[in-house]
Amino acid sequence: MTVHIGAKPGDIAETVLLPGDPYRAKWAAETFLTDVKLVNEVRGMLGFTGMWNGNRVTIHGSGMGMPSLSIYANELMKDYGAQTLIRIGSCGGMQDSVKVRDVIIAMTATSLSTPSRGIFKEINFAPCADYGLLRAAADAATAKGTPTHVGGIYSSDVFYDERPDLNEQMTRHGILGVEMEAAELYNLAARHGRRALAVLTVSDHLLTGEALPSEDREKSFGDMVEIALQAAFA
Ligand code: ADE
Repeated sequence: MTVHIGAKPGDIAETVLLPGDPYRAKWAAETFLTDVKLVNEVRGMLGFTGMWNGNRVTIHGSGMGMPSLSIYANELMKDYGAQTLIRIGSCGGMQDSVKVRDVIIAMTATSLSTPSRGIFKEINFAPCADYGLLRAAADAATAKGTPTHVGGIYSSDVFYDERPDLNEQMTRHGILGVEMEAAELYNLAARHGRRALAVLTVSDHLLTGEALPSEDREKSFGDMVEIALQAAFA
């Protein structure tokens, strides 16, 4: 057990999918895994371990924002030995070519700051995905026929951003979408020698104002979970 995870040693698989929302972790585990066991519920942050195609997988909530993700990713990597960590979550589209429901596979994650700022100090470290996972996810998305974009994303600290100029600069520089967790996941994976990737579904759009109706979410999010699972075990 750690401060924030009540799982026993061995309860957590080497491969962990990290949705922000603990209820999405429950839904994904019940939908895609067999032999599912609840392994954490400390503070309501649900984690489940089960089997997918003969492979052991944990699906564990990360919470919203990099400080929360940092707590869970640190404990999963350092205390439970997680080797492959894939964020599955939603993001806001930032390019005209990116549509609501599309999937984004995040090659890099730009940020204003991350919880690792204190370590990097004046260095602008470039957090990037594991290339093998990225390539496998892109192949899985192509095979599935899911409209998918591979490129840079923006990990923001602010959902209700009152500096629209920042988003404009991101769009101008080709950033595909905005979310709030991937940059620190990539930082931590680099630091601890683990594999990390973020596979995201576009749930809303900053340029058009469009948002995915709640009844459409499951199908769109399901494609993302399958792409992440296929990439993890490719
Ligand atoms: N996650 C989903 N949509 C988002 C947005 N518009 N900004 C930040 N994170 C998000």
